[in-house]
Amino acid sequence: MARLDHIQCVEDARRAARRRLPRMLFDFIDGAAGEERAGRRNREALDRIELLPRVLVNVETRRIACDLLGRRWNLPFGIAPMGMCDLAWPGADRAFADAARDHSIPHCLSTAASTSLEDCRARAGGNAWFQLYVSAPETGWDLVRRALDAGYEHLVFTVDTPVLSRRRRELRRGFKVPFRLGPSQLLDFALHPRWSLTTLARGVPSFGNNRSHNGPRSGSSSRAFDRSQSRGAVDWAFLDALRERWPHRLVVKGVLSPDDAARIRAAGADAVYVSNHGGRQLDSAPAAIDALPGIRRAVGPDYPVLFDSGVRDGEDVVKAFALGASYVMLGRPFLYAAGAAGRAGVYRIIELLAEETSVALAQIGRTDIGALDERVLAGAGGGAEQAHAFSGDLGLIGSD
Ligand SMILES: Cc1cc2nc3c(=O)[nH]c(=O)nc-3n(C[C@H](O)[C@H](O)[C@H](O)COP(=O)(O)O)c2cc1C
Repeated sequence: MARLDHIQCVEDARRAARRRLPRMLFDFIDGAAGEERAGRRNREALDRIELLPRVLVNVETRRIACDLLGRRWNLPFGIAPMGMCDLAWPGADRAFADAARDHSIPHCLSTAASTSLEDCRARAGGNAWFQLYVSAPETGWDLVRRALDAGYEHLVFTVDTPVLSRRRRELRRGFKVPFRLGPSQLLDFALHPRWSLTTLARGVPSFGNNRSHNGPRSGSSSRAFDRSQSRGAVDWAFLDALRERWPHRLVVKGVLSPDDAARIRAAGADAVYVSNHGGRQLDSAPAAIDALPGIRRAVGPDYPVLFDSGVRDGEDVVKAFALGASYVMLGRPFLYAAGAAGRAGVYRIIELLAEETSVALAQIGRTDIGALDERVLAGAGGGAEQAHAFSGDLGLIGSD
C-alpha cells in the first residue's frame, strides 16, 4: 500500500496505482476509447480554463456543502458509477459506500459493480444512488424493482453506452470478464504479487448484481449485467416508461447535446448528467466541460445539472460549478485511490479534494460553491461578486 503522506493529489494516487496494479487492470481503469482523444480533450479543456484570483475579500468561512435533488450533501462532489471496482482493490465498492456515508456524499453504484445493490444500500443508506444499465427491458425492470425494494431514492440511468466502445488498451491487454488467462496475463499478475495475493486470493471479483441477495431470484435477475450485451434498443419510449415506474429522483447520465438535455427535462427526469463517460465511449466526442454551458442554457438556470469527465482536483470542481454544474462527480480518481492505498486511500482522496476545493474558493474570493458563475473565470470580465453573505452552513474552515 502506498503511504498516505505520499498521496498529495489525484496524480500521486494514479502513479501509485500504476505501480501496484497489473497492467491489464490499470489500463482497464485508466484507458479510454479509441486513440483516447476524448480522454485527453477532457483534460486539455479543463486546463485551458483559468480562474481569476480576487483579493481583500473575507473568505475565513467557506461553504462547500450543496443542496441537490432533495437533500444536502456535505461536499460538492460524489463518486461516479463504475463497474468492477473491486478489481482495483477487493473492498473498493464497500469502501466507497462507507466513505459516502461518513462524508455525506453520493456513491452511485453501477449495475456492473462488484458488490450487490442491496449490500451497498445497506452500508451507505440514503447516500447510495443506483446506476441503471438496460440491455433487455425485463432485466432492466427487475433491477429497478430491486433498487426500489432496497430503498434507493436516486436512480441514474446511463444512456451513452448503446454499445461498448473499442477501448484499445483493454483489447491489447486481453482484458475480458471473466478473465481469460494466457501467458501474458499470468506474467502480469506474477509481476504484481501484492495485488495478486490480496485480490486473486479472495477470488476474482465478479458482477455483484448478478448474484442474488436474498436467496435465489427468479428469471432474468440472475444475469442483471453482461458486459458484451448491446444496449442499443433503449430509446426515448423506455425513458418515458422508466419515468412512470420510478417514483423517486431520476437522473439521466451521459448527455452532451443541449437538444437531448432539453428533451430529458421535458420527459420529466429530475436532472441531467453531463458526461462523455470519461472519454471511454466516443473518441471524437467533445470535452464534457465544453458541453456544459450549452446544456445549462438549454435546461434553464434552476434545473439540476450534474457533471463528470476529467475532474482531477478542487480547482476543476470550482470550474465546473462556474460553468453551470449543480454537482460534480469523479470516477477514476477513486479507483486510483483504492488501487494505491485501499480504503484509507479512498478516504484520503476525498479529504484532499475537499480541501483543494475550499482553498480554490478562497483564492478567487468566494465563500459559497453554490453561488459561482462565469464571472469567476479569467477573461470573463473579472467581475466576481464580492462579499457573499455567508449562508450559515459549514464547509471547511480554512487556515492558511
Ligand atoms: C473503470 C470504469 C468503469 C466505469 N463503469 C461505468 C458504469 O458501469 N456505468 C456508468 O454509467 N459509467 C461508468 N463509468 C464512467 C464513470 O461513471 C464516469 O462517467 C467517468 O469515469 C468520469 O470520468 P473521470 O474518470 O475522468 O472522472 C466507468 C468509468 C471507469 C473509469
